Amino acid sequence: MVIKAQRGTKDILNDEIPTWQWILENAKNVFQNAGFCEIKTPIFEATELFARGVGDSTDIVNKEMYTFSIGGADKNSSSITLRPENTAGVVRAFIEHNIGRQSPPQKFWYFGPMFRYERPQAGRQRQFHQIGVEMFGIKEPTADCEVILNAVEFLKSVGLGDLEVEINSLGCTKCKNQYKEAIKNVLAPYLDKLCDDCKMRYEKNPLRILDCKNEDCKKIFEIEEVKNVIFSDYICDDCREHFETLCGYLDELDIKYSRNKLLVRGLDYYNRTVFEIKSNALGSQSAVCGGGRYDGLVEMLGGNPTPAVGFAMGVERLYSLVDKKELQKSKYFIVSNNFSETIKLAKKLREKNISADFDFQNRKFAKQMEKASKTSHYAIILGEDEIKEGYFSVKNLKTSTQERIDSFDEL
Ligand code: HAM
Repeated sequence: MVIKAQRGTKDILNDEIPTWQWILENAKNVFQNAGFCEIKTPIFEATELFARGVGDSTDIVNKEMYTFSIGGADKNSSSITLRPENTAGVVRAFIEHNIGRQSPPQKFWYFGPMFRYERPQAGRQRQFHQIGVEMFGIKEPTADCEVILNAVEFLKSVGLGDLEVEINSLGCTKCKNQYKEAIKNVLAPYLDKLCDDCKMRYEKNPLRILDCKNEDCKKIFEIEEVKNVIFSDYICDDCREHFETLCGYLDELDIKYSRNKLLVRGLDYYNRTVFEIKSNALGSQSAVCGGGRYDGLVEMLGGNPTPAVGFAMGVERLYSLVDKKELQKSKYFIVSNNFSETIKLAKKLREKNISADFDFQNRKFAKQMEKASKTSHYAIILGEDEIKEGYFSVKNLKTSTQERIDSFDEL
């Protein structure tokens, strides 16, 4: 039987690679210009990191983790999980290597595969890739501004400059808890009308109810008294000032944003600023980017109290939105029936950092030329005369003009 790729996973083949590479180059340029250093952390971590970090009331931890028990059922066995996201892993590395010792801010960016056991659909895979940034050590809204600016600038660099940022403030732990209580109280009479997921969220994580896409739940949010609580201005003065200052910075930068009071995000670690960047072109899985502040996470995972803010973008979703790049042609294609002369010339060109390719099957020149014009800018013809007399015939494959070149250094 033919073995196929697993459901929800995808091969990225040569026609897609140029665009992927181009997206990554842009990420590297934009983030490194802003002082973010790349960080690479392992693809699997202790399960407990995500259970504690992402939160055991989230869908990710409850339903979507690829978790394995290593070492069998004995008492030395350990449970590991393929990372469903990278914030927890970066925070673990931050604590483990005592990166907080360096003077703040500590700024990182990353790229890599993430794994979530979700029902696959357009824009939703079980293995997908994220590009993200995490910035540590700054509690002021200047850091939120820097992170959002970088998300927007990166999107602009890949031609997606017109996407709008949705932004909200969840408040600090104190205001968040008060808000949760108020939501529970006002929804109590409607509990049996909420969907099954929301019934669970009601106990464990009532804020997530606001994110529900179920039409019956949405109708309940329209009831006047419920609406009044959901849209109330519940955050404390400090949190409000943080949020308003951030909005002021975004205005000054001409970053387009709108406040979405129903934006709560699906991970437990957030406080204060949360944001998403969406595109209608993506259909129901419309978020390209999600992020926010997580001031409590470093301490919660055993580090010193350290404010932090970051975001991650889904690269497959980005890919579907950007203009596609074509496979780059090599400079030369060597057309010849003499393999040893051909591969020696290719080797010398490549050593000079000039791209060169050739035919491996000693085919007729016409066939080789056909391949050359598809894959390269110039053909170097190495026929018997050229080899004997030590010159090269170089054909421009766009204009079909041909010239004689007498020395390798002129190539
Ligand atoms: P998230 O919203 O879970 O946040 O994921 C960020 C982005 O990853 C989403 O907006 C989406 O583009 C993409 N994504 C998520 N799940 C899938 C999937 N199953 N298939 C394809 N793409 C997907 C986080 O992961 C946080 N760690 C972001 C963050 C960093 N917050 C602070 N720092």
